[in-house]
Amino acid sequence: MSARKKLVAGNWKLHHDRAASVELAKAIAAGLPSSQVEVVIAPVFTSLDVVRGAIAGTSIGLSAQDLHWDDSGAFTGEVSAPLLKDVGCTHVIIGHSERRQLFGETDDRVSKKLGAALKHGLVPIVCVGETLEEREAGRTLEVVLGQIDAALAGITKDALAGIVIAYEPVWAIGTGKVAKSSDAQEVQAAIRKRMSERIDAGAAQKTRILYGGSVKPDNAAELMAQPDVDGALVGGASLKAASFLAIVKGAL
Ligand code: G3P
Repeated sequence: MSARKKLVAGNWKLHHDRAASVELAKAIAAGLPSSQVEVVIAPVFTSLDVVRGAIAGTSIGLSAQDLHWDDSGAFTGEVSAPLLKDVGCTHVIIGHSERRQLFGETDDRVSKKLGAALKHGLVPIVCVGETLEEREAGRTLEVVLGQIDAALAGITKDALAGIVIAYEPVWAIGTGKVAKSSDAQEVQAAIRKRMSERIDAGAAQKTRILYGGSVKPDNAAELMAQPDVDGALVGGASLKAASFLAIVKGAL
């Protein structure tokens, strides 16, 4: 059994106003099974402050869904790491495939954002994953490991242990087509091996690697039972307390 503590994170994407966010956060807090699993929720920016209040005194981490790498300046529409810290964030999602595909996120930006998160003490949840076309062309490992190399360029072994990676095959996100647990394990073991070889073997053993993409209560336990699947990054099923809590229980 791995010494890594399982982490289940809910990415609420562009869902829920402040009232609905508070209601969901409170319901999750009330139903948490134990502190054996780390739980993080990522509401929209405008709900971060009220959700922080709703989960105060619990062990639930608060994550933003993105950040800008500069601390401040003429960057209209952006939010920086110091501001996320100011609102109470503990984590931040970086390089989600929706950012990569819809908003021009590049590997270079992902790397800069990772540096900013680490500099300000936010735990980065760095997303990587291949498209269906890339998988069918047999390029999954090439693509995913390329994203890992780019994101982690210049990362020290001390920093590596505190980074969270989320492997999210693009074709599995929001589609109901979950990866086979053996496929998730194969890619996630390859990610750990790469971090081991390129940065540090000891630190790579401590890095949590989550799986994301159509995680549901009925497939979560099998996925998270894989040796290199250290938890889940959940989209749709994190929008209801009952399904999210069932997934959290699957990590026990
Ligand atoms: O970040 C989580 C996500 O992209 C997966 O979404 O709805 O397939 O669980 P979903």
